[in-house]
This record gives sequence, C-alpha cells and structure tokens, in this order.
Amino acid sequence: MSIQLAIFVSGRGSNMEAILKSIQDGELDASVELVFSNDPHAKALETAKQFGIKTASIANTGLTRSEHENKVRELLETVSFDYIVLAGYMRILSAKFLSHFRDPRGFFRVINIHPSLLPAFPGKCAYEDAFSYGVKVSGITVHLVDEQVDHGAILAQQSFPRLADDTLETFKARGLAVEHALYPAVLREISNNGIKLDNLTRESIET
Ligand code: GAR
Repeated sequence: MSIQLAIFVSGRGSNMEAILKSIQDGELDASVELVFSNDPHAKALETAKQFGIKTASIANTGLTRSEHENKVRELLETVSFDYIVLAGYMRILSAKFLSHFRDPRGFFRVINIHPSLLPAFPGKCAYEDAFSYGVKVSGITVHLVDEQVDHGAILAQQSFPRLADDTLETFKARGLAVEHALYPAVLREISNNGIKLDNLTRESIET
C-alpha cells in the first residue's frame, strides 16, 4: 500500500534525498506530501524543491518549543500523511506534539534515523561520540519516536565496522552509506507490510 510521508529536516538532507530517489526509482511505494524544516536556509529544502516536493519552514529562533510546535501542527493540518519521517531533524519533539500522531495501536506515527546502535550513543553527535569512544563496530538505527530522546522501539539496525585506519570522516562516510540504504528499506517494509508490532518491545507501545 502506498504510504504518504511528511519529512522533517534541519540541514543537508542526504537521507531525505535517498528516500526521494527510492520513490523516483519505483523502489518505494510512497509519496512525500511535505518537506518541513525548522531552518529556512536548510540545503534539504532546495533539494526537495528540485524533486518537485512541497516545502515549508518555520524557524524556531525566538519561539518557545511549545510555540514552535503549535505552528508546525497548524501547518501539518493542511497536509495529509501517514507518517512523519525525521531525517536529520535536530529538534526534540515534545510528548504533547507526539500525542497528536498516536496510532490506535499506541505508538506514535513518527520515525527517526539515528547514526549509532541505540541504546549506545544517543544525542546529536553520535558519529563523533562512537568514534572517540573507540568502538570497533558501530551502526545505524531506524526507530519509532517516543517521549524520550533516541529511545523508541527499534524497527531496524545495521552495523558497520570501524577500520583501523579510519578517520572520523571515513567512518562517517561508511555510516552514511548505510543510512541511505537502510531508511528507504525500512519505509519500503512499512509500505508493503505496515508496522509489525510483534517485534516491538518498548513500554510506550505496550500501554
Ligand atoms: C544523519 O547522519 C542522521 O542520522 C543524523 O543527522 C544526519 C543528517 O544528515 N541524525 C541524528 O543524529 C539524529 N539524532 P542528512 O541531513 O544528510 O540526512
């Protein structure tokens, strides 16, 4: 079944682009109804426009989290979508905001990609943190978003090695290539089969 997506971005947008390419190539049965950014200057917005996708931005500067989220919610009311897909969206979403997107089965219809094997290295600098910790293996996590940061039920994880001669840049590049394959693959699985609760274990979807 085709799924409708609203993608949230804050910067470069390479994951967003991987998703858009996957749709364009006929590999992912989905439509992107909106690309939204909290940064009006995000490169991702330009890229989305080149794909002919509707874009919008609401800067968060000068607004409280709640003021900003209220405006984002008003914007989202003008769009039809099944899932919010966070692709490098560097803002924490409040429990109140998330509650508007609760699936009848309990979880929020909000998906995120994070560049570590969660629960290791949550936060904004996962590549840097994993690299400087000295991990031999790292990975990418795609997960449902819950009320805690980088915490919701895991949909997919894929590992990649840190090689002996890696710099932070080569380590990141290897991880990013994994991100660009994994995110479209997870969305394809959701488009084909929906979100399967059997494998999900977090409390937020059990209550
Ligand atoms: C990606 O590496 C993504 O996993 C990460 O931000 C980058 C965005 O790149 N997200 C997080 O760290 C979320 N905690 P992109 O804008 O090129 O997709």
